Amino acid sequence: METPMEAAESVADVAGPDAAGPDVSGGPAGAAGPTGGAATADLADPGFWRLPAPARAAAFAELRRRPGPVFFGDRATGQGFHALVRHADVVEASRTPAVFLSGPGVTTPAPARWVRLLFGDSMVNLDDPRHAQLRRIVSRAFTPRLLGRVEEDVRRISAALVDRVERDRPEDFVAAVAAELPFQVICTMMGIPERPRRAILDLVNRTSADIGVARSLRHRLRSPGRGLRALARMQVIVAGIGRERRRRPAEDLISALVTADVDGRRLTGRELGAFFTLLLVAGVETTRNALAHGLHLLTVHPEQRALLLADLNGRLDGAVDEMVRHTAPIIQFHRTVAVDHELGGPGGPLLRAGEKVALFYGSANRDEAVFPDPEAFDITRTPNPHLGYGGGGPHYCLGAHLARQEMTALFRELFTRLPEARSVGEPELVPSSFDHRVRALRFTF
Ligand code: HEM
Repeated sequence: METPMEAAESVADVAGPDAAGPDVSGGPAGAAGPTGGAATADLADPGFWRLPAPARAAAFAELRRRPGPVFFGDRATGQGFHALVRHADVVEASRTPAVFLSGPGVTTPAPARWVRLLFGDSMVNLDDPRHAQLRRIVSRAFTPRLLGRVEEDVRRISAALVDRVERDRPEDFVAAVAAELPFQVICTMMGIPERPRRAILDLVNRTSADIGVARSLRHRLRSPGRGLRALARMQVIVAGIGRERRRRPAEDLISALVTADVDGRRLTGRELGAFFTLLLVAGVETTRNALAHGLHLLTVHPEQRALLLADLNGRLDGAVDEMVRHTAPIIQFHRTVAVDHELGGPGGPLLRAGEKVALFYGSANRDEAVFPDPEAFDITRTPNPHLGYGGGGPHYCLGAHLARQEMTALFRELFTRLPEARSVGEPELVPSSFDHRVRALRFTF
């Protein structure tokens, strides 16, 4: 189990003082890798993630034009990764789980063994058969029937948030709306009583405080301990609720997870804590960033905003999908190559067993081979086969449907009641190699 903070530091940590720059000399051995000339960017350098978005986009566009994936870091020590930047490559790695393993950890550095033992394994870091077994149990939370029930809650929570915006006129869209909605939805789904919710949100915020590569070294060294303590306390709260529901089941997800008996299995207290943490990490921060970037995108593209407001019901689904394509809330996850593999088929670039690959979802979403005019924000884009929720395969985002429900409900409520709602100024971004995080976004209506 890994804290969001640690996950967010993935590339920052790959690029320690020993890490070499990008190895562009030969690419994967015996394959058509990049040849000659230095790469324009070093994805393993924390400084890269502080560059303005257009500079990073240009670097990825340049990487996509190369004949094979570039390796960043130090291949000799096994530190580093092949950057998969094309749509087809990210799809292949996602859908070939026997070759591209998640078990060694999808973030870098991989979670320590003792962390896994203490907190339980998160399903993102598991392979079959354990992944399939866990996913079968927790998928019960995401059946169309259950999500149908949740839809009403999502609408109610969205309406209450917009009520509060009208009444209190908060300045920051992230704190007032974007972070609140997914957090309240997950707590409601899980049946977390109102009372501990504030404490849990505080813990989540503490866990992910000062996220990204901007933190000082001293801070980085200190924070993991704090983050883990916060995580441990959060899991104790959730495990306690689990014990309570096992004795007195209610109509909620925790009750279903701790009492039902699929494959003769139900979740233990520790697995329940790990799952709840995963939902918070995977479901709150991603949706929050998508909502904030979404409002800003509509503000800086007034013609798209006018198009949307002219037919909110007809165009909102497409707009929400385009927000996720354009934003790519999660930048990348890693896989570890299980056996030597030629990417794209026989004769393709050779990836060697034991090496890491990084699946750059945002770059895949701008792949010129799949998306015409990929830098444009176009809410009418059809088809829109973006990889914001992953490239398919067994780990495909469990909450994709829920995330769409939340974004659609919130923007419908917001623009129906406050059609002038828009961001003010630039979002306050947090440099990170893991997610496109917005710390704050001022807004008005
Ligand atoms: C806009 C919002 C979201 C984005 C962009 C997003 C993106 C992703 C991505 C890229 C993955 C990895 C897919 C892969 O490795 O193939 C993932 C996995 C996951 N997501 Fe999401 N997600 C979002 C919202 C949510 C929500 C709302 C939930 C739940 C409440 C959620 C739960 C999960 C879980 C449990 C996994 C791991 C699945 C597994 O390993 O089997 N996500 N998500």
